[in-house]
Amino acid sequence: KPIYILNGPNLNLLGTREPEVYGTETLADLEQRCVRKADALGLAVEFRQSNGESELVDWIQEARANGAGLIVNAGAYSHTSIAMLDALLACDVPVVEVHLSNIFKREPFRHQSYISGAAKGVICGFGGLGYELAIEALASAISDA
Ligand code: DQA
Repeated sequence: KPIYILNGPNLNLLGTREPEVYGTETLADLEQRCVRKADALGLAVEFRQSNGESELVDWIQEARANGAGLIVNAGAYSHTSIAMLDALLACDVPVVEVHLSNIFKREPFRHQSYISGAAKGVICGFGGLGYELAIEALASAISDA
C-alpha cells in the first residue's frame, strides 16, 4: 500500500510563491525528494496537489481505503477545514501534518490548525526537509502498527 502525500491550495505555485517564506523548491522538486526518500524506506508514494477542498476530502477517503498512511499539507485549509479534519478522523492509518513554514512564527490566524486534531504528529518550519522527516515518522509508525 502506498503512502499518500496530499498538498492543498496554492502549493502548485511553490518555487515562485513568496519564496522568502516557502523557498525556491518547486512542487515537482518536492515530489522527487519524497519519492527518493520513500523509496529508500521501501515505501511507495501517491503525491498529489489540489486547490479544491472537496477533491482533498475525496483523496483522504481514498487513502483511508487504499493507503498505508497519510502526510498532509492542507495549506490554508489547515486553518479552516472541519471537513478535512472529519475525513482524517475517519482514517485509522497514521497521519502526519506538515507545513513548510513555521506557522507559529506567522500571523495569529495560522496558529490554529484543525488538521492537528487528527494527526499523530506535526512538523513545521523545515521547508521541504519536513516532508522527508514526515516520511520517516510515518515509516516508523507503520512498522510499529
Ligand atoms: C502552509 C502554511 C499555511 O498557513 C499556508 O496557508 C499555506 C502553506 C505551509 O506549508 O507553510 O498555504 O501550509
